[in-house]
Amino acid sequence: RPAEEARPGRPAIAVVAHRGASDDAPEHTLAAYRKAIEDGADALECDVRLTADGHLVCVHDRRVNRTSNGRGAVSALELADLAALDFGSWKEAVEDARRTGGREVHADEEPDWQPGNAERTSVLTLERLLELVADADRRVELAIETKHPTRWAGQVEERLVELLARFGHTKPATRDWTPPVRVMSFSARSLHRVRAAAPGIPGVYLMQFLTPRHRDGRLPPGVGIAGPGVRILRAHPEYVAKAHRAGHQVHVWTVNETDDVAMCRDLGVDAIITNRPKQVRTQLGLR
Ligand code: G3P
Ligand code: CA
Repeated sequence: RPAEEARPGRPAIAVVAHRGASDDAPEHTLAAYRKAIEDGADALECDVRLTADGHLVCVHDRRVNRTSNGRGAVSALELADLAALDFGSWKEAVEDARRTGGREVHADEEPDWQPGNAERTSVLTLERLLELVADADRRVELAIETKHPTRWAGQVEERLVELLARFGHTKPATRDWTPPVRVMSFSARSLHRVRAAAPGIPGVYLMQFLTPRHRDGRLPPGVGIAGPGVRILRAHPEYVAKAHRAGHQVHVWTVNETDDVAMCRDLGVDAIITNRPKQVRTQLGLR
């Protein structure tokens, strides 16, 4: 990895695929995550929510309205309800509109996509995503974000830790093994719950704004990694050095524009979370 040479003594910047390679495939689908692995992503980011019957599924919004042909809150639907929905076609519609500017599409212009392709259209469970990563022919990490667990106080984290334990990820780290997963949240309480049940799993504290409490680079107790939005770094580039001085890695989201990638590289961040893992790797000179 040539970029390692540009960061003497430090590993290359990790490239994390945000909701999979979500510029190219519908977010949070198996197809988006397979593409991210093919594109060389070091890690996959996913948001998790709990269904009414206790399954963790990879869905960003509280409701399924934006990313599927259904309606309603994930927490009010059962896995079977979600399995009956189409989580992919909205993306094709967006892409068609972008490609054609609204003009009628002819059959020979259709993208290489079939409505029956379940990997592009089915809801994805966290369990299936953990299997995908376990079956990969190289180490691929998972950065799992717990969305604000209001309705299910504590149950999201409980279920998450159970699942991670089943995959062997909650064992204590050794010299030769570290867990290939980390848990991210805007909620310090959520990170605290995970840490209490599985102390070996690294936590990432996500920040949309830099509050006075965190301006000096410190994080909530026990949290190891800072997760600022890229806008924070545009306004406060000095934050990266402060967080590093306080002993924290810095994982930045969601970095899609080339200027922002260059800024992150120059500031020495540790991970870039992006919808475009292939493009970012190319820009960083990573093979
Ligand atoms: O990776 C963190 C980032 O995903 C947080 O924002 O809204 O995309 O989940 P959001
Ligand atoms: Ca997220």
